[in-house]
Amino acid sequence: MRNPSPQTIYLKEYRVPDYLIHSVELNIVLDEENTRVVSKLTMERNPDCDSENIALDLVGEQLELVSIALDGKALGDKNYTLSPESLTIAQPPQKQVFMLAIENSINPKANTALEGLYLSNGMLCTQCEAEGFRKITYYLDRPDVMAKFTTTLIGDKDKYPVLLSNGNKVATGELKNNRHWVTWEDPFAKPCYLFALVAGQLEIIEDKFTTLSEREIDLQIFVEAHDKDKCGHAMKSLKDAMTWDEKVYGREYDLDLYMIVAVSHFNMGAMENKGLNVFNTKFVLASPDTASDHDYENIGGVIAHEYFHNWTGNRITCRDWFQLSLKEGFTVFRDQEFTADHTSRGVKRIEDVDLLRTRQFAEDAGPLSHPIRPEAYIEINNFYTLTVYEKGAEVVRMLHTLLGAEGFRTGSDLYFQRHDGQAVTCDDFVNAMAAANDVDLSQFKRWYSQAGTPVINASQHYDEASQTLTLVLEQQSSSPEPLQIPVKTGLVNKDGSVASIRLDDEAAANEITLQLTEDKQSFVFKDLPQKPVVSLLRGFSAPVKLNMSQSLEELAFLLSYDSDPFNRWEAGQKLASEIIFSLIEDIQQGRSLTLNPILIEAFDNVLAQDWDDLSYFSLLLALPDEGYLAEQMKVVDVDAIHEAREYVKTKLADNLQLHFSSLYQSHHKDESGCFGKDAIGRRRIKNTCLSYLSKLETQENHHLAQTQFQDAGNMTDQIAALNVILNSGHPAKAESLESFYQQWQDEALVIDKWFGLQACSPMPDTFARVQALMQHPAFDLKTPNRVRSLIGAFSQSNPVRYHAANGEGYQFLADQVIALNELNPQVASRMVTPLTGWRRFDEARQDLMKAQLERIMQTENISKDVYELASKSLA
Ligand code: BES
Ligand code: ZN
Repeated sequence: MRNPSPQTIYLKEYRVPDYLIHSVELNIVLDEENTRVVSKLTMERNPDCDSENIALDLVGEQLELVSIALDGKALGDKNYTLSPESLTIAQPPQKQVFMLAIENSINPKANTALEGLYLSNGMLCTQCEAEGFRKITYYLDRPDVMAKFTTTLIGDKDKYPVLLSNGNKVATGELKNNRHWVTWEDPFAKPCYLFALVAGQLEIIEDKFTTLSEREIDLQIFVEAHDKDKCGHAMKSLKDAMTWDEKVYGREYDLDLYMIVAVSHFNMGAMENKGLNVFNTKFVLASPDTASDHDYENIGGVIAHEYFHNWTGNRITCRDWFQLSLKEGFTVFRDQEFTADHTSRGVKRIEDVDLLRTRQFAEDAGPLSHPIRPEAYIEINNFYTLTVYEKGAEVVRMLHTLLGAEGFRTGSDLYFQRHDGQAVTCDDFVNAMAAANDVDLSQFKRWYSQAGTPVINASQHYDEASQTLTLVLEQQSSSPEPLQIPVKTGLVNKDGSVASIRLDDEAAANEITLQLTEDKQSFVFKDLPQKPVVSLLRGFSAPVKLNMSQSLEELAFLLSYDSDPFNRWEAGQKLASEIIFSLIEDIQQGRSLTLNPILIEAFDNVLAQDWDDLSYFSLLLALPDEGYLAEQMKVVDVDAIHEAREYVKTKLADNLQLHFSSLYQSHHKDESGCFGKDAIGRRRIKNTCLSYLSKLETQENHHLAQTQFQDAGNMTDQIAALNVILNSGHPAKAESLESFYQQWQDEALVIDKWFGLQACSPMPDTFARVQALMQHPAFDLKTPNRVRSLIGAFSQSNPVRYHAANGEGYQFLADQVIALNELNPQVASRMVTPLTGWRRFDEARQDLMKAQLERIMQTENISKDVYELASKSLA
């Protein structure tokens, strides 16, 4: 082990920087194996710093130092100290501004961690968030040091015809030896994590956008030549995002140029570098035949997310990395709302809540649980979590609910006005919201320091004599004091009509947001001549677990009549979950299974109605995910979950096959290339029906799937059919998998789907198949998208096969983590997650998982990333 216990960084130890950097002049001579960096820093002692320490500590990793000069004078090696992670100058000038020039070299080709400057398909590119700039040059690599950057890139004209960095292109020129140079100037001071450069043979797609104040912005997307025809959707999404941010937040773009580059090797989804976003190809490239409807929606959301960071992240940034949710939580909330406004609001909300409850709740319930503003970390890369992102977005959403759309806008306006150009904290954000609305949000702030998922226990009592309904809400959380929780509530009469809500002296309303601020509170609803059905936590108005006992009949009733799209879907999910859980018990007790007819009836009811929004209709027919069911079990039984859920699905298919067949037929049209809400909805409902029908294994249904697979002119239909073929006893399985590979072998993103589909299959031969695929010539441990589509998909989305009782899945995963640790610590550490929840399983599996975590802990040269996750989950 390199470092048996790496250092922990604490929020409470935050201090302002000792020095400031006003401007940076970078001169970078690009070369695959030996890139030269000259950095000239204009610096000053920070006037706000009261520390005694005058030494200047710059951080740098994996750098070869060539020379240093202070105010033009070369420094001898007695005047500074070098360590593997820093460069310290003992006595820099104190009073005046001084200039530090550093020259160093780096080797991008050897960089498999994909952090700092690295090579992707011959192109040079950077990733600096969170702490990657220190792998480019020695610097004060922290977000509260903001400087103006001027960057000159020098490179070979043939290898690097395109040379990009942040801001505006201000000068170019030619050099001898077939080289050229470009100088970029970014007029906005920024932290170094927003620095970027890209150099390579790239094609450009261009468009223009005129802002509200009539400024014309050049929009450019850079891709490899063969992908030039797949940028239309990304470009349209960018323009939609720019329009939306002007309309909803009053935010205009601030440079004359906005560039996006798509790269094949990327640890994350995308990065908001100022004026020069770098994207994983997965979130840029789309054509109807290669990208699914889901991919199209994701691209729109990610393009918007990175664009929105220009204000929420770049113009106003984070003081320190503990404040990460300041930019990420807020920006996720913004991209969720953008997508809701451009697709179906109800569907988007359901999908976001589904992700939160399946994955973030699991994180909250495990050994790595942390508040949205963490208090300590070993490796910051480990804190780009579902909690910081998704729960962080829920906390911002609650503010939106509490203040209303207008109040929220007034608050965000004040936030932008107060803090433009600054590096600030989550408290600054909430303070601006409170000040603009003249409300006290001090209790609300507890959401930022509380870890774990709060629970609300609800009970109700109807009193016929007084015609009142009393609702009692009790909250439990890890916070010593109660949280402020908005609980959106509606009442539904027995005939399905809305019952008006009269609470105390307030005017009657169809819906009300109850303010839960105490440990236990009662709410009395008046003037109710009949007992209504309560619809609580509408729209999932707070990230909590709600316990309220409701009969299967009440749930079926809400599935038919709740006017809130989220709660209507939720009622169906609860109904199906309760039925599946009782089947799980039957399986565990060795009893025979029968399906409660109330579920068939409820589905029959849904199927018999006319739906405008076919995507929403499809969601009503979807059974709760195995992961979500697991999340709700004390001791997770993956086999029983799978068996029970499959049983329900097959029985529903059996009983409702006429509905499914006729729905399939009426929506099966060739609409390839149509991406309107309606065409997407038709594909979605049709493929939902195909999936049910495939459970019946009839020749007719096999034929249906095969015909769809062969004739599909779009990826949504083709991949849905292939999935059904793969996960049934279809005779054309091997042949279809092979022909798909042959058809798409030159499209990396489609081949990722091909790996992913096979990794997720619950069929018994999956583990053997996964092992064989690891040896496939198209598999590569150095390409994160491939790792995620094979190893990630198998371990995160295939519970029955990954959790095989003999432990083969765990051992396989640990082997891969150990191999990845050497190559790419960030990706390695993300792969550890499926081992961390070991306490939730039976004892035999606990032992097997723990043994693999212990094995990982013994890895030679274990990275901080993997060490933190493995050690914390064993603790
Ligand atoms: N700032 C992040 C990208 C990032 C995260 C870089 C961690 C380095 C380390 C970016 O804005 C982001 O959040 N990207 C997400 C996608 C987004 C739509 C939620 C990602 O990459 O997963
Ligand atoms: Zn982000």
